[in-house]
Amino acid sequence: MDQSVFGSSMFLCLLLVLITWNNVVVVPQAEARAFFVFGDSLVDNGNNNYLLTTARADAYPYGIDYPTHRATGRFSNGLNIPDIISWVPNHVAVLISSFSERIGSEPTLPYLSPALDGERLLVGANFASAGIGILNDTGIQFINIIRISRQLQYFEQYQQRVSALIGAEQAQRLVNQALVLITLGGNDFVNNYFLVPFSARSRQFALPDYVVYLISEYRKILVRLYELGARRVLVTGTGPLGCVPAELAQHSRNGECAADLQQASALFNPQLVQLVNQLNSEIGSVIFISANAFASNMDFISNPQAYGFITSKVACCGQGRFNGIGLCTPVSNLCPNRNVYAFWDPFHPTRLRILRIIHLHNTNNSFHSCFAAMNNLLVLGFCAIISLVVAPCSISAQPTRAFFVFGDSLVDSGNNDFLATTARADAPPYGIDFPSHIPTGRFSNGLNIPDLISLELGLEPTLPYLSPLLVGEKLLIGANFASAGIGILNDTGIQFLNIIHIYKQLKLFQEYQLRLSAHIGAEGARNLVNRALVLITLGGNDFVNNYYLVPYSARSRQFSLPDYVRYLVSEYRKVLRRLYDLGTRRVLVTGTGPMGCVPAELAMRSRTGDCDVELQRAAALFNPQLVEMLNALNEEVGSQVFIAANAYRMHMDFVSNPRAYGFVTSKIACCGQGPYNGIGLCTPASNLCPNRDLYAFWDPFHPSEKANRIIVQQILRGTTEYMHPMNLTSIMDLDSMT
Ligand SMILES: *[C@@H]1O[C@H](CO)[C@@H](O)[C@H](O)[C@H]1NC(C)=O
Ligand SMILES: *[C@@H]1O[C@H](CO)[C@@H](O)[C@H](O)[C@H]1NC(C)=O
Ligand SMILES: *[C@@H]1O[C@H](CO)[C@@H](O)[C@H](O)[C@H]1NC(C)=O
Ligand SMILES: *[C@@H]1O[C@H](CO)[C@@H](O)[C@H](O)[C@H]1NC(C)=O
Repeated sequence: MDQSVFGSSMFLCLLLVLITWNNVVVVPQAEARAFFVFGDSLVDNGNNNYLLTTARADAYPYGIDYPTHRATGRFSNGLNIPDIISWVPNHVAVLISSFSERIGSEPTLPYLSPALDGERLLVGANFASAGIGILNDTGIQFINIIRISRQLQYFEQYQQRVSALIGAEQAQRLVNQALVLITLGGNDFVNNYFLVPFSARSRQFALPDYVVYLISEYRKILVRLYELGARRVLVTGTGPLGCVPAELAQHSRNGECAADLQQASALFNPQLVQLVNQLNSEIGSVIFISANAFASNMDFISNPQAYGFITSKVACCGQGRFNGIGLCTPVSNLCPNRNVYAFWDPFHPTRLRILRIIHLHNTNNSFHSCFAAMNNLLVLGFCAIISLVVAPCSISAQPTRAFFVFGDSLVDSGNNDFLATTARADAPPYGIDFPSHIPTGRFSNGLNIPDLISLELGLEPTLPYLSPLLVGEKLLIGANFASAGIGILNDTGIQFLNIIHIYKQLKLFQEYQLRLSAHIGAEGARNLVNRALVLITLGGNDFVNNYYLVPYSARSRQFSLPDYVRYLVSEYRKVLRRLYDLGTRRVLVTGTGPMGCVPAELAMRSRTGDCDVELQRAAALFNPQLVEMLNALNEEVGSQVFIAANAYRMHMDFVSNPRAYGFVTSKIACCGQGPYNGIGLCTPASNLCPNRDLYAFWDPFHPSEKANRIIVQQILRGTTEYMHPMNLTSIMDLDSMT
């Protein structure tokens, strides 16, 4: 797999499997899910700045790559692990619950921050403190730090404060539903047992006995967390402690990882997993989830180049051998490009450039969510890659690829909400079955086709290009340029005024590439686009919102239908050629569905409920010529770049036999008015069916989420009748081998 695309980025997999999203989704009024963090410097995001201790990251160049470019107390050049974790579920929350509205994308605040007050408390809190360990005597040299027992006391205090705010019962619920991260253990080795030769602990214990002791103490901590109400706790093991630059500088002659520390990790991690299993079986529920940081970290340590790093031995910021001596300070050596270093300072990983994979596994119409964040979070030592594997998520550990979407309302995920146009889906009941239950601009009761493709591929859903959230790392996910109402032709959809015509979408795509280049360099950007998956859905509006919009339309006076179709296909060819010239190499092109069968057309043109013959004829002419054109284009470019998705066939399956697919009807829209609920738009005043899953059509023009799922299944796994020359699964398999 070509790693260069994402530069040094993601290769370790951070998988958070949050089974309890189920509850969040099923319960109406989905609630915020709080996030609590306990542990050491790998997860401290600033508590120590409020303390009299030497263990603080409060001076430049710490934070150099943080959004504010200021030192915040995080032991990183940029974001740290909890930031990423809160960021991942927050992002996913857009899909899952309304909690993003409440949390925004704010990371959890340090508990000692004076800003942590009022409503902010409901987001959770970070109790971590650099330097601490499982044992009270770990890190004593740092003087005033928050030992773990103290962190747990603060957690109790926190709960009292939240109770005062929202009542005891709600507070307990908040804690029960929260996600908890705890990262401990590394310091018990590096800042205790191995800190000095003949340390007190090393004189007291042989290493194996010390590990047994640590685990038994850790057990008490975890039990206490459970007693305090935590019900979903990620417990990270230690990384390869012997391989961090600090240890190389102190304990290694030839740059090999320090053997005694490696042995410590090798003893500690399996026993921690055992402990976690034991606790779960005692409690009778999966409360604790262990994350194995060691194995995944060894990959990049043994082969940094493969992951885009020039070194995994030398810290970016530090001094002495391997830049591993002392701390990172304003006078340290500082590498110019943090992205090519695995280690930021002698102990801590470089900025977490994260791409995340989100895989929502739909079972019985509820979500199991797997969050996989892939990053260069080369967590070292104590740190943690959180790698949780819980059935029934299917998780891909491959680097993700970007996803770009072009087209009309079938694939618009909200761009039109940012425009002065009437073609928008911004009022209820649009989004009624979306995880947040709010309208998002998608022309669906729930998820649309691009969402479902993203989820199936384990990608995060692409943001609308016009969304202000599409900045920074999010650019790496791709973007959705689609705009409801547009067509192949510039004059299609003019009645909607301000929409993004296809050439404008392509222009924005160019603009996007410039922004991306500024972020990851021109070559990185080009690679990302080359490797990306693209979906383009055009054509339907050129008939329903142009040629057939009114009797004697300009286009129908200009062209006979067959000539019009030929003209459309020739114009479409230019669009696709332009997409190719802009660097895309995997493009799914959907034909039109059975346009004559949508409720809008039944209402306007059909007496008997039969599909409208004229529009069916249009689809029948357009689709085969589209396939032919794609074949010709592929030949021209000498590669299978364009893949035809037979949307007509996919729709006809459930249109002609709705019951076989679990629908009560394919003629009547769930939301609308008049015959077939096919007149006008879906609005708050429309008829609304109680069970959207029983309707093939959500509104007069657009399939329901359930129908979208059927379509996406065919895109993924369909035979050549549906997908030509091959389905998306085959494409992904093929691309993963190159
Ligand atoms: C650590 O300190 C806490 C609080 O002072 C105490 O309750 C706990 O027993 C101590 N742990 C050990 C192993 O001494
Ligand atoms: C789906 O729900 C049914 C009944 O609620 C249950 O019996 C079945 O096991 C569920 N299937 C899965 C895959 O969870
Ligand atoms: C549509 O508009 C674009 C950009 O304004 C232009 O380049 C293109 O030639 C137009 N297409 C037609 C068929 O006029
Ligand atoms: C489509 O996908 C499935 C796997 O999901 C595969 O078995 C099948 O062979 C693929 N291709 C075709 C042409 O059916």
